[in-house]
Amino acid sequence: MSDLFLAAGAPSLQCCDRCGASWPELSTAAECADCGGLLLVTHARPVATGDALKIALASSAEASGVWRHRALVMPGADQVVSWPEGNTPLVDRARVSEYAGVAQLQLKHEGMNPTGSFKDRGMTVAVTHAVRAGARAVACASTGNTAASLAAYAAQAGIPALVFVPKGNISAGKLAQAMAYGATTLMVNGDFDACLALARSASAELGVYLANSLNPWRLEGQKTIVWELLAQLDWNTPDWIALPAGALGNTSAFGKALREALALGLINRLPRLLVVQAEGAAPFARAFDADFAKRVTVRAETVATAIRIGDPASWDRAVRAIRETNGVVTSVTDAEILDAKAVIDASGVGCEPASAASVAGVRSMVARGLIAASEQVVCVLTGHVLKDPDAVNSYHADGATRANPPLEIEPRLSDVERILGRR
Ligand code: F0G
Repeated sequence: MSDLFLAAGAPSLQCCDRCGASWPELSTAAECADCGGLLLVTHARPVATGDALKIALASSAEASGVWRHRALVMPGADQVVSWPEGNTPLVDRARVSEYAGVAQLQLKHEGMNPTGSFKDRGMTVAVTHAVRAGARAVACASTGNTAASLAAYAAQAGIPALVFVPKGNISAGKLAQAMAYGATTLMVNGDFDACLALARSASAELGVYLANSLNPWRLEGQKTIVWELLAQLDWNTPDWIALPAGALGNTSAFGKALREALALGLINRLPRLLVVQAEGAAPFARAFDADFAKRVTVRAETVATAIRIGDPASWDRAVRAIRETNGVVTSVTDAEILDAKAVIDASGVGCEPASAASVAGVRSMVARGLIAASEQVVCVLTGHVLKDPDAVNSYHADGATRANPPLEIEPRLSDVERILGRR
């Protein structure tokens, strides 16, 4: 096993991905104090690897799908702030695989987490870290899901949460959650990128704990999405794992999860990552097309507000994830996102707009001959259908191809009969 791990029994470290400097486990700096690079957590080599590790994970009595992997996530934690989260379903829906154009497509529904998105996996670990480090307050910038998740976990931990959200570009469900769970909600006259700049200075100047996906502990929790879906496939590697991307935290977490799974003998080959952005918010896809020669930023605009991000923070870590997995980054239009979402929704599964980018991305790759119909694909659905009711209502009111608007009737049986006849 490689230098991915420290000597057995050593406390975890936070290591700079740029200059290699390392910092103690309970340091709360969001970046490397030497060079400003982003950090990645390194743990001690686990006692069990390969089949022994698979058995240990499968037989864990832990209720949380994140903390089941504690030795590989945060071995030093005894008390954790957990909902519990994770253990999300991996489902097949024939309509969705036919739509995407591949015979084997599975949906890993992260919207089935306690606050309705994958963010809970990272947040349980980050808030546990904040508590262990003695943080007075926690903060994040967010397009909505991170805010909802942080609000819920901070409430559980009993520490104040401050969330910065872009005014006019956060869905109703997410804003409602942040308020309901008791976070101080700051509506910023600016986009997500402006919110993040503000949250970073609040963290640096005012000492609040930053819980954005820059935070390396968030990635430790989000790694478990990948390990859990691999375990659900009996550790048989699919050809592709597709996910939507905005700030690129999840892409980075998936790359680290796969790197570690290979080093630990959990899998013997890597899947390829398919990272999908919305066309109006696709700096990473543009850079991929130019072989990542330079970092790109854009003014972001898309109906998928969760991924309306023009300057993704986890850039370098995500480039590494793409390179190591022979991955592909692509983009899809808002129309493609909404069409894929309507198919996922009508299959009875449902998801928020950003999540549907994963399926839309696979469909587009199949149409272009870049994914073969015989390949096995797992699409990660990152958020729940109820996160963004306005997107659903406006789609169905709009006369779109797959629109299913409510039909107004008088309270009489003949109206019902007339409509049944029509169907
Ligand atoms: N899908 C959903 C539903 C999201 O909420 C996000 C990010 C992503 C995908 C993209 O993940 O940023 O790690 O590349 N939402 C963040 C938030 C930005 O504030 O909730 P990423």
